[in-house]
Amino acid sequence: MIKIGHRGASGIAPENTRSAFLKAIELGMDMVELDVQLSKDEELIVFHDKDLKRMAGVKRTVNSMDLLDLKALDIGSSFGDEFKGERIMTLKEVIELAKEKLSLNIEIKEMGRKRKLVVKKVIDLLEEEDFKSEVIISSFNKKLLNMARSMDKDISLALIFSSSRVKALKISQELKLQAVHPHHSILTEGKVKGYKGLGLMVNTWTVNDKEKADELCGWGVDGIMTDFPKIFKNEE
Ligand code: G3P
Ligand code: MG
Repeated sequence: MIKIGHRGASGIAPENTRSAFLKAIELGMDMVELDVQLSKDEELIVFHDKDLKRMAGVKRTVNSMDLLDLKALDIGSSFGDEFKGERIMTLKEVIELAKEKLSLNIEIKEMGRKRKLVVKKVIDLLEEEDFKSEVIISSFNKKLLNMARSMDKDISLALIFSSSRVKALKISQELKLQAVHPHHSILTEGKVKGYKGLGLMVNTWTVNDKEKADELCGWGVDGIMTDFPKIFKNEE
């Protein structure tokens, strides 16, 4: 079973930061999930929210600011004084940190009319960094995944969803996806077996309870995303 730190080890360090990714490595995670968007000057940055309010106390959207200005923000203090001065990372910086230590689940956030640009930039960067084989690109957005598939026929892609109404099997076959990323609350043992029977990996999110993780493991899920890596203690 693949142990995946959600936004790094985001239960114990500010999400999507160097500290959160280093904690994930220290605590034995195999992979981290992270969120990618574009800054105003079209740099790939690692950040979850659309705006900077919760993390940096700033009433601006992420994509209304250039990378240099985003880099000036402190996104650690809101989590705890010991993380003061933590900075937003670029995707390139995270790949450099991850090399030979972690694989990455890169969730691309919906970027509207810049959707195609963000997908192309991610795939180009993975090629430049020779890191494509260590990555799953995931998204809630079918159109975005479709663009990724037309740009690269081999790259690992996963659909994220949290409703049983999403036709995940149909979409997975149409877009030749490698994995599904359902929320754990909509999974059953039967569904896990159904996805796996069609050759799909099943990575589920966000599981912060050890008993639930054990149950999902028993159902045969391939990967579990958690904010708290310690839930995997006593597991291989
Ligand atoms: O990739 C799974 C999960 O991260 C999707 O939701 O809001 O945490 O990015 P969110
Ligand atoms: Mg995410």
